Amino acid sequence: MTLIHETDYGTPARVSETLVTLEIDGRAITVPEGTSVMRAAMDAGITVPKLCATDSLEPFGSCRLCAVEIEGRRGTPASCTTPVAPGMKVHTQTDKLAKLRRGVMELYISDHPLDCLTCAANGDCELQDMAGAVGLRNVRYGFEGENHRAAAKDESNPYFTFDASKCIVCSRCVRACQETQGTFALTIDGRGFASSVSPGANESFMDSECVSCGACVQACPTATLTEKSIIEHGQPEHSVITTCAYCGVGCSFKAELQGTTVVRMTPWKDGGANEGHSCVKGRFAWGYATHKDRIMKPMVREKITDPWREVSWEEAVAYAAERLKAVQAKYGRGSIGGITSSRCTNEEVYVVQKMIRAAFGTNNIDTCARVCHSPTGYGLSQTFGTSAGTQDFRSVDKSDVILVIGANPTDGHPVFGSRMKKRLRAGAKLIVVDPRRIDLVRSPHVQAEHHLQLQPGTNVAVVNAIAHVIVTEGLVNRPFVEGRCDPKEFAKWEAFIAEHRNSPEYLESRTGVPADQVRAAARLYATGGNAAIYYGLGVTEHSQGSSTVMAIANLAMATGNIGREGVGVNPLRGQNNVQGSCDMGSFPHELPGYRHVSDDVVRHEFETAWGVTLDPEPGLRIPNMFDSAHDGSFRGLFVQGEDIVQSDPNTNHVTSALESLDIVIVQDLFLNETAAFAHVFFPGTSFLEKDGTFTNAERRINRVRKAMPSKVGRDEHWVACALATAMGYPMHYETTSEIMDEIARLTPTFRGVSFEKLDRVGSVQWPCTGFEDDDTGMAIMHEESFARGLGRFVITEYVPTDERTTRMYPLVLTTGRILAHYNVGAQTRRTANVAWHPEDVLEINPVDAEIRGVKDGDMVSLASRMGATTLRAVISDRMPAGVVYTTFHHPVTGANVITTENSDWATNCPEYKVTAVQVARSNQPSDWQVDYAKNDIERKRIAAANVIAAE
Ligand code: SF4
Ligand code: SF4
Ligand code: SF4
Ligand code: FES
Repeated sequence: MTLIHETDYGTPARVSETLVTLEIDGRAITVPEGTSVMRAAMDAGITVPKLCATDSLEPFGSCRLCAVEIEGRRGTPASCTTPVAPGMKVHTQTDKLAKLRRGVMELYISDHPLDCLTCAANGDCELQDMAGAVGLRNVRYGFEGENHRAAAKDESNPYFTFDASKCIVCSRCVRACQETQGTFALTIDGRGFASSVSPGANESFMDSECVSCGACVQACPTATLTEKSIIEHGQPEHSVITTCAYCGVGCSFKAELQGTTVVRMTPWKDGGANEGHSCVKGRFAWGYATHKDRIMKPMVREKITDPWREVSWEEAVAYAAERLKAVQAKYGRGSIGGITSSRCTNEEVYVVQKMIRAAFGTNNIDTCARVCHSPTGYGLSQTFGTSAGTQDFRSVDKSDVILVIGANPTDGHPVFGSRMKKRLRAGAKLIVVDPRRIDLVRSPHVQAEHHLQLQPGTNVAVVNAIAHVIVTEGLVNRPFVEGRCDPKEFAKWEAFIAEHRNSPEYLESRTGVPADQVRAAARLYATGGNAAIYYGLGVTEHSQGSSTVMAIANLAMATGNIGREGVGVNPLRGQNNVQGSCDMGSFPHELPGYRHVSDDVVRHEFETAWGVTLDPEPGLRIPNMFDSAHDGSFRGLFVQGEDIVQSDPNTNHVTSALESLDIVIVQDLFLNETAAFAHVFFPGTSFLEKDGTFTNAERRINRVRKAMPSKVGRDEHWVACALATAMGYPMHYETTSEIMDEIARLTPTFRGVSFEKLDRVGSVQWPCTGFEDDDTGMAIMHEESFARGLGRFVITEYVPTDERTTRMYPLVLTTGRILAHYNVGAQTRRTANVAWHPEDVLEINPVDAEIRGVKDGDMVSLASRMGATTLRAVISDRMPAGVVYTTFHHPVTGANVITTENSDWATNCPEYKVTAVQVARSNQPSDWQVDYAKNDIERKRIAAANVIAAE
């Protein structure tokens, strides 16, 4: 259990090799140079009253409560803004200071509502605490004069309120929004007595630029900014440290509870990935865990048109096993398989892949990473030898040049986006490669040096062109390449990349990026100091996804931007546990730790540990499963927490494949779109009910701890174990930590990891091989040599996608994620986040809109050769002419009805980012949407009205 109130040291810690010794209240204290007097005192356990200071923000010095006396100095300087000096003698408690502090507090309290007993912050109010700390006993000034007690409340934000009557204008919220979040949504309006906090230009929070990260709420020392959940429930009485289950940043949180009810999620200051910050999803969007739509009991049905029948867990397991065995008896061992989920813990994923391999006896196991970062795994292992990003998040603090390609960190990975913006505000230069003008290109105090607004599908051409400039202008880091990389492969690559067909000038007509911009960006990347590359699904979800990953790796090697802080190649992982689900052996060709199933030594190790014979042949990938379902050879599927109907491309192809199966088993929180095709449904658990680990984008293995008991009465891994056992392969773990112990025994990169160690050291970044017991792993990879020995340059020929615009489909559709929602929206649509994004919209350039007579807000049809849908158009100059953009958070939009079957040549990752489309005004739902609505009503009828309850 962790304390609700952590120590606030007043000002941030400083790092310096120079130490300073001073005396505070007669005690000698030694701290790093640059430390504030307040922090030095706090470090020694001496508390100085404070209001405007907090250790997550730079000191401001406005409240004067922290005044101290320093021998030899006049007056009473603020201890928060005064740095320590050698030999300094400080007094924090004198009569003079006590009088001064009481005077300050008296002024504050004389303009503050005295409703402490009924105030939501009662027990968690620094103003209240300080009144006690300074010994305030009476207030001489009455409330008759001018005051702020009638100031209006702003309740517009769904998650927090702003009660201006309680504001002491300490500016902590304003500074949190600037320094921590980097949004600059708040200002202090007016002067002196009239000064007040204002979102935007005197707007409400909802109408302002605020992105609801909650940093201001966390920073507020009074009840002015308060979570609505705290107003509703009151203060928490205990907390549990766990990990956010949304994106690959993997923020650590204190789940703060009353009993088993979560009343607040507070980002944990000691969290390695987030250091006390969060975004709207992690901090606020957890209500789905107790949403009424959750399915609490296992259910079965003979046919997908039958009503569901609630049954016991044992009956559901027996039913699933019988049907799977019957399919195998008729169609062979390889006729069934499963899909793991990157939303689940490492332990849950591990047992499912073990169940498929050991109990089902097949390698037909794949993961949702297939449709997002599988090219990262392939590309980075080919070039560097490891399927993972090279840096920790902190590394960006040392970057001089940041190249963001096909990623939108402020929406997709918001906490890391804030960290990146902080570095950019401090002077790092930014290059953005993206067809869409993402927020980073231009936001408060951040301006990209170069925005290469390329035509979707031309990533390889642009990255090759950058490399061409580096090679032909003599910008290659020869010592690095000669010392660290395979010389033969480099020579071949160098000759290839120097060819005219890779020059920015030659490629300009294909990429749409002016050659001089590419040249300038290339020079900046190669010569600007520490240069780091961050990329996302805009790189991987292409027919040349793997090629782009390798082209990026080539670029980093050619310039020596690998193997130290501030540089590297960094995939921003979409889901919370994409890295982990891949690490756990979820691919059909790889056992845990990315070791090929055909490797006899590796297979033998698992066969010995698991006591079975394993198939040496790779199994089916997800798209192959669908194709084999269509040809009748694949007949049964176990789906762990993934909504393949909504998330996979070419929806009609997916649904017809599922319809053809004899048995579909879904394990999930909700009856998702895929469950409409299921015969067995096992209720899943939310992250708040899980015990285990997630591995984030920086390879950080974080603990996930139960904040509440499983609402469905079972842990998720129980289902895989019971089903494996019923299939004839006994599988059982007494505790979840036993699963991690087995993972650590069998997976070299996880060696030494255990729950005990994670609980002791906080988190570990793999690889962990050979580290001492308290070591927390490897923050930066490939420091001395690459994991594969010599870095390998790979020739990345630009091959245009088959998906071409035509007269019929003249525009290119690209898709992405927005801040408020997460992936298919199964969770965020069941939270107040819908306030920001109640529907998916189509962003279209003003020129394309005008040609089609489309006005802002019009409904339009969006059609490709695969299908059509209807959605609302938003005219936006973020989009270049010829390119439109949408999200896929709402099932009724059917964005993936439009996307094609094209996929990455190496990994089959779908080409979500390039679809030729036409847009036209329309006031009709598409045929698909009419069908969807009909089926949805039918499904709801079956799911709700006709559930036959268990006896
Ligand atoms: S919630 Fe975040 S973005 Fe909004 S005002 Fe507060 S700090 Fe700024
Ligand atoms: S809202 Fe809170 S943090 Fe902001 S100025 Fe007022 S009291 Fe300070
Ligand atoms: S940045 Fe990602 S991990 Fe962090 S709180 Fe937001 S969604 Fe959760
Ligand atoms: S805490 Fe130092 S001036 Fe407010």
